[in-house]
Amino acid sequence: DWTASNVVDEQVAAIREVVGDDRVLCGLSGGVDSSVAAALVQRAVGDQLTCVFVDHGLLREGEVEQVEEDFVAATGVNLVVVDAKAQFLDALAGVSDPETKRKIIGREFIRTFEQAARDVVGEGAEDGHPVKWLVQGTLYPDVVESGGGSGAANIKSHHNVGGLPDDLQFQLVEPLRALFKDEVRQVGLELGVPESIVWRQPFPGPGLGIRIIGEVTESNLDVLRRADAIARAELSEAGLDREIWQCPVVLLADVRSVGVQGDGRTYGHPVVLRPVSSEDAMTADWTRVPYEVLAQISTRITNEVEEVNRVVLDVTSKPPGTIEWE
Ligand code: XMP
Repeated sequence: DWTASNVVDEQVAAIREVVGDDRVLCGLSGGVDSSVAAALVQRAVGDQLTCVFVDHGLLREGEVEQVEEDFVAATGVNLVVVDAKAQFLDALAGVSDPETKRKIIGREFIRTFEQAARDVVGEGAEDGHPVKWLVQGTLYPDVVESGGGSGAANIKSHHNVGGLPDDLQFQLVEPLRALFKDEVRQVGLELGVPESIVWRQPFPGPGLGIRIIGEVTESNLDVLRRADAIARAELSEAGLDREIWQCPVVLLADVRSVGVQGDGRTYGHPVVLRPVSSEDAMTADWTRVPYEVLAQISTRITNEVEEVNRVVLDVTSKPPGTIEWE
């Protein structure tokens, strides 16, 4: 019988068996897969696991706390948080082109993770428990897509982790290799991973960096984060979290429009709401969010985020429009 509790038991035994006394490293992103994979490995080998979380400053309101506080409290993992906010902002200064932003974010991410991994590896070398393993939250659909076979071998080890240099290579622990997304969520709940993480909607790796049309600056991030938090809160309140696949909120930092707010004329920025319904993100339809909910989001954003004086709704399917604006 498939039960989350059986999966946990089997994987815990399998992880203990392959890892032995070695140390294990895991990069946490704040997403479902890496969080559940880390929680499983923690259950299996406890303090032999060290998680690294790179705070690139591009997450949404409350998400850093979800990892640093809620996830740690729920699972007891050893967590190293690298505050790389200033480094990412510096690297992104003056850049508006979407693909250039992605490249910069990817490059800085690898650099930062590599440095943190070296520190953990150094500790392991000193006390005779070398760091030999890296946890990855690979799911069954990823395995099939990459031609990886049946998924029966739930822990498959191979070398040469993409993006890491030769002197920093690990074998992979992939405890979610046989699972589909909904099964990963059940396993996460079984392990006590916070619901806010288990039910998190898809969110791109480059984060808010590709939801600012224009330059990624601290003030643009701050404006977008506040608008996004309002939209998310209202959609949740309206009970639409499961119906909506994800709802990017996009700040048009390069666009200004005239408005009247409070006592006078303003020249502020629009934000776009992009609620979509989808099965797999390959195609999507724009979600028919009830007018009252849209009205509430619009009123609250323009009242509470003074830099924003216009809220617009994206009514484009995918194709032709992608889900993200960049
Ligand atoms: P698009 O915009 O291509 O998005 O329709 C499809 C899905 O992929 C996510 N997405 C990304 N995820 N890095 C990621 O990890 C990226 O650069 C990226 N770009 C888009 C998007 O949020 C949607 O779920």
